[in-house]
Amino acid sequence: MNQNLIIIGAGGHGKVAADIAMKMKKWDRISFLDDNVSKKEALGIPIIDTITNWHEYEQQCDFFVAIGNNTIRKNIMTQLEGNKASIAKLIHPSAIIGEQVLIEYGTVVMAGSVINSCTKIAKGCIINTSSSIDHDNNIGEYVHISPGVHIAGNVNIGALSWLGIGSTVINDVEIASNCTIGAGAVVINTINEQGTYLGIPAVLHKK
Ligand SMILES: CC(C)(COP(=O)(O)OP(=O)(O)OC[C@H]1O[C@@H](n2cnc3c(N)ncnc32)[C@H](O)[C@@H]1OP(=O)(O)O)[C@@H](O)C(=O)NCCC(=O)NCCS
Repeated sequence: MNQNLIIIGAGGHGKVAADIAMKMKKWDRISFLDDNVSKKEALGIPIIDTITNWHEYEQQCDFFVAIGNNTIRKNIMTQLEGNKASIAKLIHPSAIIGEQVLIEYGTVVMAGSVINSCTKIAKGCIINTSSSIDHDNNIGEYVHISPGVHIAGNVNIGALSWLGIGSTVINDVEIASNCTIGAGAVVINTINEQGTYLGIPAVLHKK
């Protein structure tokens, strides 16, 4: 663990990530990198450089990629991993994490979230505000679980999928990789095919 944390991305998601990092009290100094050169700070935290210059800081810093888009987040994290950079995970102190839960690096767990026993969350995920992920789930790499999502037990979610705000997934189903589940949708059947799914029950809207 380094004393400095660099958060990549100073947008809305970056500010929430920085707020969590401050509350964790693990780093002496937090800075942002962002490609908007007209912006000098966010949340009172300085933006010290552009994202493309991240490697200039790799020896002395932990990194966290705070980009909401799953694919862009993956691409930047892959570059960091390629250089063996230290990638942090961020867990808000108010999150409730059960026994035998595994949360990989590069993942953020936001305020009020509940992750129950024996669930695995892979690298680079966003577990957004007040979401609940019950027991024995497998959440794949670079998944975004939006605010207020509820996922019952024994659910598998494939890499890079995005569950929209307030959506619900019943127990014992799977969601394929690269799916979008619309806001408020209710998934009651396994989804095998990549696409956007909407409604109650959730049905394929477009491939
Ligand atoms: C599903 C979503 C990604 C849009 O997908 P899209 O394919 O671009 O859909 P469009 O916006 O073109 O809308 C297509 C149709 O689906 C409808 N639709 C869109 N989202 C819907 C939803 N969540 N539930 C039901 N219907 C929806 C639209 O009203 C539209 O209907 P129409 O054809 O009768 O006019 C978006 O609406 C959504 O739900 N996003 C989630 C946002 C979120 O969770 N943000 C949290 C960030 S932390």
